[in-house]
Amino acid sequence: MPSLLDWKTDTTLSVGKGATVQQFVAKLGDDQLQIEVAPWGEGHLRINGREIAHIDDAKDRRQAFRAIKLIADRYVETHMTKSNGKTSPPSLPTVKAKLLEGKKGLIVGVANENSIAWGCAKAFRALGAEVAITYLNDKAKKYVDPLARALESPIVMPLDVSKPGQMEAVFERITKEWGKLDYVVHSIAFSPKEALQGRVVDVSREGFATTMDVSCWTFIRMAHLAEPLMRKGGTLFTMSYYGSQMVVKNYNIMGVAKAALECAVRYIAAELGPKGIRVHAISPGPLATRAASGIPEFDALLDKAKAKAPARSLVSIDDVGAATAFLAHDAARLITGETLYIDGGYHIID
Ligand SMILES: NC(=O)c1ccc[n+]([C@@H]2O[C@H](COP(=O)([O-])OP(=O)(O)OC[C@H]3O[C@@H](n4cnc5c(N)ncnc54)[C@H](O)[C@@H]3O)[C@@H](O)[C@H]2O)c1
Repeated sequence: MPSLLDWKTDTTLSVGKGATVQQFVAKLGDDQLQIEVAPWGEGHLRINGREIAHIDDAKDRRQAFRAIKLIADRYVETHMTKSNGKTSPPSLPTVKAKLLEGKKGLIVGVANENSIAWGCAKAFRALGAEVAITYLNDKAKKYVDPLARALESPIVMPLDVSKPGQMEAVFERITKEWGKLDYVVHSIAFSPKEALQGRVVDVSREGFATTMDVSCWTFIRMAHLAEPLMRKGGTLFTMSYYGSQMVVKNYNIMGVAKAALECAVRYIAAELGPKGIRVHAISPGPLATRAASGIPEFDALLDKAKAKAPARSLVSIDDVGAATAFLAHDAARLITGETLYIDGGYHIID
């Protein structure tokens, strides 16, 4: 595949360093990309001076250059915004220890590069795991496709959990291609606007049923479909929120659904534990994602989270991804049924 960038040798490199290390530069809009490669197979990719990727296991300078150039191309594909061609902040993690190598899993809920599911997908892939991902529909596909390419996902399928048969089709394909599953990340939720933005006491039967169906039952069903594929054990994850435990302004019926979800996690953990299948709810602090934009006054929630959390910091999707990936590792084999807060400690403060 031809490179998306026009790489030129950096002639400004000082002579001493240039004898061993070579630098190449390319422009993308206002951004300056730089590749530095050494004869012993080390390579760096920097964007506007900030390191994005690093390899040290190439055979020689040429191989290092090829590998880093590929990473740069993927970065550009993933991060170029449609409107002005500028790049957004870098987010390709480089991890040397492939602690999840050999593991294969399904991640549901990637809508775009702000999605919590994308934070998880990046972390799992960076640690060497294979990742199958899904997209909601044709409209979502164009945002998910470049992310799937960056993940080198062998299985990329449509999944609208409200469409009969689509979830089964995803698991059938996984059965056929992999014959096993090591982890599942369920990172989806939905509530009709009138149900989510009204009082719990006023919610309609239909609004309640849809909220519970998409946000809770689908996790139960995914666990059911994953069980026969996790013959040697595995880990199931779903995303929850503190509004399940406490009354959080504007979280309303979704809080009720998340409480049911966390409870389902405990029951399923007890039921599947003897088979070596572990089950967790991950409870991140507020993150500005598409789903969050449906919650009124979300900015106030972010401000409060930052001010009250002991860490005095908002969490990122990468924080969530790293913690989730840790729980999928065999080192966490005796941790199950948890609701793990990734919230800078917010939930411990009165
Ligand atoms: N953003 C936050 O502040 C926050 C905090 C805690 C927990 N969560 C939870 O994290 C999860 C992921 O949300 P996010 O914040 O990353 O937002 P997001 O909008 O990026 O992800 C939500 C995902 O749900 C999917 N979805 C909705 N209806 C679906 C359906 N019928 N079939 C298949 N997929 C469907 C969307 O396509 C999307 O990919 C949700 O469960 C959410 O409640 C979010």
